[in-house]
Amino acid sequence: MTTMFSRLTLRGVTFKNRIAVSPMSQYRAKGGFANDWHMVHLGRFAMGGAALVYAEATAVERSGRRTHGDLGLWNDAQADRLRPIAAFLEQEGAVPGIQLSHAGRKASERRPWHGETPVDAEDETERDEAPWPVFGPSALPYAAGWPTPAEMSEADINRVIQAFGSAAQRAAEAGFKIIEVYAAHGFLVHQFLSPLSNVRTDQWGGSSESRARFAVEVARSIRAHWPERYPLSFRLSATDWIDGGLEIQDTVEIARMLRAEGVDLIDCSSGGVGGKDRPRRMKISEGFQTEFAAEIRRDAEIATMAVGFLWDAAFCENLLASGKADMVALARELLDDPNWPLRAAQHLEMGSNHEFWPIEAGWWLMKRDRLLSKLGLR
Ligand SMILES: Cc1cc2nc3c(=O)[nH]c(=O)nc-3n(C[C@H](O)[C@H](O)[C@H](O)COP(=O)(O)O)c2cc1C
Repeated sequence: MTTMFSRLTLRGVTFKNRIAVSPMSQYRAKGGFANDWHMVHLGRFAMGGAALVYAEATAVERSGRRTHGDLGLWNDAQADRLRPIAAFLEQEGAVPGIQLSHAGRKASERRPWHGETPVDAEDETERDEAPWPVFGPSALPYAAGWPTPAEMSEADINRVIQAFGSAAQRAAEAGFKIIEVYAAHGFLVHQFLSPLSNVRTDQWGGSSESRARFAVEVARSIRAHWPERYPLSFRLSATDWIDGGLEIQDTVEIARMLRAEGVDLIDCSSGGVGGKDRPRRMKISEGFQTEFAAEIRRDAEIATMAVGFLWDAAFCENLLASGKADMVALARELLDDPNWPLRAAQHLEMGSNHEFWPIEAGWWLMKRDRLLSKLGLR
């Protein structure tokens, strides 16, 4: 038995293997509402054998959307559209998860294929998509040419914290069983955590503990609305890769604080807060962020998920078996092959494993395998 295909239980939720579908924004929602696209996009990963399927970054309030195409969970009607998707994922054997998000100063952005730059009057003319005002912990723009965010007032901060809690309650009512808070990649929670984007001098900034206060309050707000038996995860940028920004030791401390608030899992990514150019210190290679998962797991004593540039089943098995992480999350490799988990099982341990496939495909593939081998063709 491999580690990748062993079960994992967090609180009252059991994952059938260690493979998660990393959240992937589709930019296809209208007014924050999910549609058939999201059902098919997410559904195929459950059919492909992943144990955990995360719905993309989902805004907890309207102004927290990154783009006009983001999903939202700021009203009950949005939860109603997500409910059948969560039910389908669960019916096909996956744990339905959702990533809750607020983009802060990175809101009002164009979709990647429209340039990933701030929305302006041109978008309004071309697509009827108007820009909206952005805010963040401090009046520091994300990058040159980006709008300067309004510094959030105490009332703004409390409203957004409350919005995370309300969205969590809706997520539970929609049938999701795990939440991931998007506290990485330069989005609002990360903006509070990082000294590069938070220069406040009140209780929400200054010391590392004060910068972490927003993340801690978000975790508390969610825990107050999210069933005790369901796990809660945070995606963190383990390092900002920029001198003067967050380093892995800071993130270990943050993970410890979050664990004390009832967070069960840290999804270990990196970067995203220091503008659009890749930081000089950031060198990308296969599994380049997995050491962060290992360090956080060891030093903060919390379960971790490794993510980023993972595609090889043996590589993933090795990092799970060696105790560097409890789960792996894949994004682009799964876009390329939504059946990657079933193929990984075939490759790692089970040989021809068509009995694990959805029967509607597996039954035929099993028959074809037999015929191919009888005819000596494979
Ligand atoms: C299409 C696409 C959309 C993404 N959207 C999100 C998102 O909504 N939230 C998030 O945390 N990361 C997002 N990411 C980042 C992925 O979750 C993942 O961390 C990253 O792609 C690295 O993993 P990979 O090398 O397996 O693709 C997105 C990536 C892709 C390719």
